Amino acid sequence: MCGIVGILNSNSLKTESIDILKKLEYRGYDSAGLSLFSQKRIKTIKSVGKISALEKKIKSISDKPFDGVIGHTRWATHGVVSRNNAHPFYDDNLTLVCNGIIENYVKIQKFYKEIPNDIESDTEVAFYFLSYLLNKYSNPDSALKIFKKTIKGNYAFVIYIKKNKSFYLLKSGSPISLSQNKKIFYVCSDSSILSDYHDKIYHLKDNDFLKINKDKIINLKNNEPIIFEKNLKSLNSYDKGTFQHFMLKEIHEQPNVLKDTQQRYDKEYFLDFDTKFSDLVNSDKIILVGCGTAYHAAMIGEYYFNKLTSCDVSCEHASELRYKKLPNKKCLFIFISQSGETMDTLMALKYVKKNSHKAVVITNSLQSTMVREADLTIPTYAKKEVGVASTKAFTCQILSLANLSLQIGKIDKSINISQYNKYLKSLKSLPTKLNKLINDFTPVAKKISKKIALADACYFIGRNIGYPIALEGSLKLKEISYMHSEGFAGGEMKHGPIALIDKGTITICIIPNNELYEKSLSNTQEILARNGRVVILSSLILKKNSGTLDTPQLPKENFIDTPFIYTIPLQLISYYFALSEGTDIDQPRNLAKSVTVE
Ligand code: G6P
Repeated sequence: MCGIVGILNSNSLKTESIDILKKLEYRGYDSAGLSLFSQKRIKTIKSVGKISALEKKIKSISDKPFDGVIGHTRWATHGVVSRNNAHPFYDDNLTLVCNGIIENYVKIQKFYKEIPNDIESDTEVAFYFLSYLLNKYSNPDSALKIFKKTIKGNYAFVIYIKKNKSFYLLKSGSPISLSQNKKIFYVCSDSSILSDYHDKIYHLKDNDFLKINKDKIINLKNNEPIIFEKNLKSLNSYDKGTFQHFMLKEIHEQPNVLKDTQQRYDKEYFLDFDTKFSDLVNSDKIILVGCGTAYHAAMIGEYYFNKLTSCDVSCEHASELRYKKLPNKKCLFIFISQSGETMDTLMALKYVKKNSHKAVVITNSLQSTMVREADLTIPTYAKKEVGVASTKAFTCQILSLANLSLQIGKIDKSINISQYNKYLKSLKSLPTKLNKLINDFTPVAKKISKKIALADACYFIGRNIGYPIALEGSLKLKEISYMHSEGFAGGEMKHGPIALIDKGTITICIIPNNELYEKSLSNTQEILARNGRVVILSSLILKKNSGTLDTPQLPKENFIDTPFIYTIPLQLISYYFALSEGTDIDQPRNLAKSVTVE
C-alpha cells in the first residue's frame, strides 16, 4: 500500500511534496519520509507517524539547493513500524520509494550475500539489491533492467540515481501517474491529486519503465514515446468545515450526495438503460464483488437483485474470487470499490476479464485503474471521502445497486410498473428522510454510545437485508473504536455465537418492519434470556423488557430504503462511541483507506 510522490524542478519541493503526502495519507500513516536530491547530494529525512511529524522535522531545511524530491507515506506490510523501515531507502548515489510488495524478496536476500540477512522490509532488500547492481554495472540503465527483470510482485517504484542524474519510474500492478509542464514533473500514486497541478497526465501501464533526465522522458520498455491525456478536474475537498472529524462531516453529507447521485442517474445515467446495459440484462449470472465495506454493499445488492429481479445472483469477497474456478456460464461481474484501486478487487477484475467475462465497476473514483480495466463504469457521486471508515461512499454504492436492480427488475418483469414507481419514489425521497434521521438520531446515538462504553463487547444481528447492515455496523464500530465486535445473521446466533452472550455484552438488533420481524424479536429474546443486554433499532413501537437498554424508533421503511435508514444510526453510534474513547477517528490504527497490496 502506501502513497508515493515525486517532483522534479519545481521551486517549492518541500511545501508541495508535504502537501501531496498529506493528501495521500489515506493510503497509510505508519511512517513517512522524503529525499531531496540534486546532482551533488541526497538528503533524506524520515519519521514514524503522520506527515505532520515529518513536516516538523524538515522545517529548518532549505530546498533551494535541490532539483527534486521523492516522498512516501507508509502502511507497514513487511517489517515493523520504525524509522529504519520508513521509506525512502538511500545511500550516497541512490534513493528509492516503493508502493506494493516484492514477493520474491526472501529469495533475493538469500541469494546475494551483499544484502544483510537481518532485513525485514521487502523494499529495503530491493534497495540493497539495486545498490549492489549499480556498483557492479557502470551503466545505471543496465543495472535497472536486471533489477526489474529479477523482482517479482505488484509494485510501483520511484528511484533517483545521482550518478547519471536520472529519475526512474517502474510499474507492475500498483498505480502511478506522471504529469508534466515543460521541465516540471510530478509523480503520484493517486492521479486525482495531480489534477490540482497539471491538466495533462500519463497513467503508467504495467511494465512501463520510464527514465526522466532533464526534460526528456524515455520508456525503456519499448523506447516508444508516452502519450499524455487530459486529466479530469478533481472535485476533491480536504476541508472539514465546522465538523470535528471528516467522518462526521461525511455522515452529514449523505442526504446531499445521495440526492446528486440519484439525480444524475435519473437524468443521464440510467436513461436508455436497456441499450446501454444490455450485457447486464442478458447475462446468465451476476456476481457482485468487493472488499470490506464495499463487500457489505455487494451483499445488500444481492438481496436487492434476489427480490426485485429474476437474476441468478451471488456475491464474493474479491480476495477469494481470484483463486476460484469461474463458472462456465455467461457471467457479469459487478465490482464495487470506492477508490477503484483496492488491489484485491483490481486483481479479481483482471482475472475475470482474462477469462472472457464482462466486468462492470461501481466506483467513486473516475480516474481509477478499475475504470480503465472494466467494460463499463457506474459512477457514484459521493465526492472525496477522506475518513478511512467509509460512510457516504457506502450509501451511494447501495443507491447505485438499488437503481440497477430496479431497472433490471422492470425489464425482466419481476416487478410491475407501480412497484417500480413506488420504490423509485422512495429513493428520491431519501434525502429529506435522512436529513431528519441524522438530526433526530444524533442525541440517541450519544446516549447509546455511553452504554456501549460499559460493555466488554458489542454484537450486531440482523436477518435478510438486515444481516449485511449488521455486518457493516460491526465493522464500523471495530474500525474506529477498537471495541471487540462481531456481526451475525440473527438466525445463526443459536448455532454458536450465542455462547458469547453474558451480562457484559451488548447486542444491537436490527429489526425492520418486514415479514421477519417476529423471528428477529425471538432472537432478541434468546439473548435477553441469557442476561445479554440489547438495543433494538426498529420502526416498530416496542415494549422495553428488562435487559433492553434502548428501543429508539426509526422512520417507517420499505424494502429498498431499509439499508439507508438502519445504516446511518449505526454510523452515528460508532462515531460517538469512538469519540468518547478518544481514538483517531479519521485515521484509525493499523488501517488505510485504499489497500493496494493483496
Ligand atoms: C480498506 C478500507 C475499507 C474499505 C475497503 C475497500 O479495507 O479500510 O474501509 O471498505 O478497503 O475499499 P474500496 O476503495 O475498494 O471500496
